[in-house]
Amino acid sequence: MAKKTIRDVDLTGKVVFARVDFNAPYEKGTLNITDDTRIGAALDTIKHLSGSKLVLASHHGRPKGKRDPMETLAPCAERLKELLGKKVKVTFIDDCVGEAKAAAIAAMNDGDVILLENTRFYGAEEEKKDQDALMAFAKELAEGADAFVNDAFGSSHRKHASVYGVPSVLEPAVMGFLVEKEVAALSTVYNAPQEGFVVVLGGAKVDEKIGVIKSLLPRCEKMLIGGAMSWAFFKAQGKEIGMSYCPEGSPEAAEEILCKMGDHLDKLILPSDVHMQNVQGDHSLIFARADGIRPGWDALDIGPETQEQYAEIVRAAGTVFWNGPMGKFEDKPFDEGTLIIAEAMGDCPGFNVVGGGDSVAAVTQMGLAEKMDHVSTGGGASLEYLEEGALPGIDILDEQ
Ligand code: 3PG
Repeated sequence: MAKKTIRDVDLTGKVVFARVDFNAPYEKGTLNITDDTRIGAALDTIKHLSGSKLVLASHHGRPKGKRDPMETLAPCAERLKELLGKKVKVTFIDDCVGEAKAAAIAAMNDGDVILLENTRFYGAEEEKKDQDALMAFAKELAEGADAFVNDAFGSSHRKHASVYGVPSVLEPAVMGFLVEKEVAALSTVYNAPQEGFVVVLGGAKVDEKIGVIKSLLPRCEKMLIGGAMSWAFFKAQGKEIGMSYCPEGSPEAAEEILCKMGDHLDKLILPSDVHMQNVQGDHSLIFARADGIRPGWDALDIGPETQEQYAEIVRAAGTVFWNGPMGKFEDKPFDEGTLIIAEAMGDCPGFNVVGGGDSVAAVTQMGLAEKMDHVSTGGGASLEYLEEGALPGIDILDEQ
């Protein structure tokens, strides 16, 4: 069912509580924003609501209910000020509920913007599993507001008070432009992929991707596996993986896929070769066949044969969705597999969507983001959308 957007309602003069995802990364040990994409991604919605009194709420990091000064949203308020320019009054309130917030809302004029402090400083309330407790916090968050806007695509898979609770107590509750754009792109991948639908999955944890693998494997033409996920599949196949990174739960999840998805396994493609390092000896690097990983060696990227094979498949895809790096992207030369996939995505004339952390960083680093049909701001959210075809934070919004 189509959801209402900010285009469908007149919010002029209203106090609008907008959930955004300003979970912009900070440089380690500092409050310097290293990538402001997520703040920039909310600007269209913020500008559209320039006739309202706009109260923005977001989480930052995972402070586990504590007031962690390294997870404050204050730097994001400063960056938002720079992006909106001097004409817009942006105020940072160092709480997301209570008197300071109420006083700030009372003093607002139409066109003013407030950014509230990290909702996860109240982790126990914001993230509560108990529905009554979550709703009590949602009511506190919603106090003083007349309407709800969800423009936090990256958080829409979380049934948290600020995402899922506030829209249950405010009406109207509608999508912002970012959420609308994300849903349009991902629903094309989920519901109507073109012939030649290719899925590229990398990253470390098979258990976090088991749902999306089960959902997409029957529907795609090829699923290319890279990154540390591959070593888990190798292990499940009984291959030696030496010192390669293989987090707990991953081999079991890989084994489950290999056992239960029998009818579709011809579409699941694993690397035929790897780039590995001798971590117990002289730290030398070599390429090896997939079954040639030795004890004391650490596989850190897909090998050149796999890179070429995967790139060729991606270039010819009718629709392609990519999530997760192909190797240890942060350490050269193990970024090669990921960069080659980014390049192939850029060359692919089909509908191409990139979702999630390092795969987004790779296309951005290569200057290829403009060539993508869609670069998602949500990692976990885009995967969950492709698993379920829906997200709780969007389902709860008003229907057209
Ligand atoms: C993200 O970084 O993917 C979103 O901001 C959600 O963060 P979370 O996984 O901590 O909920």
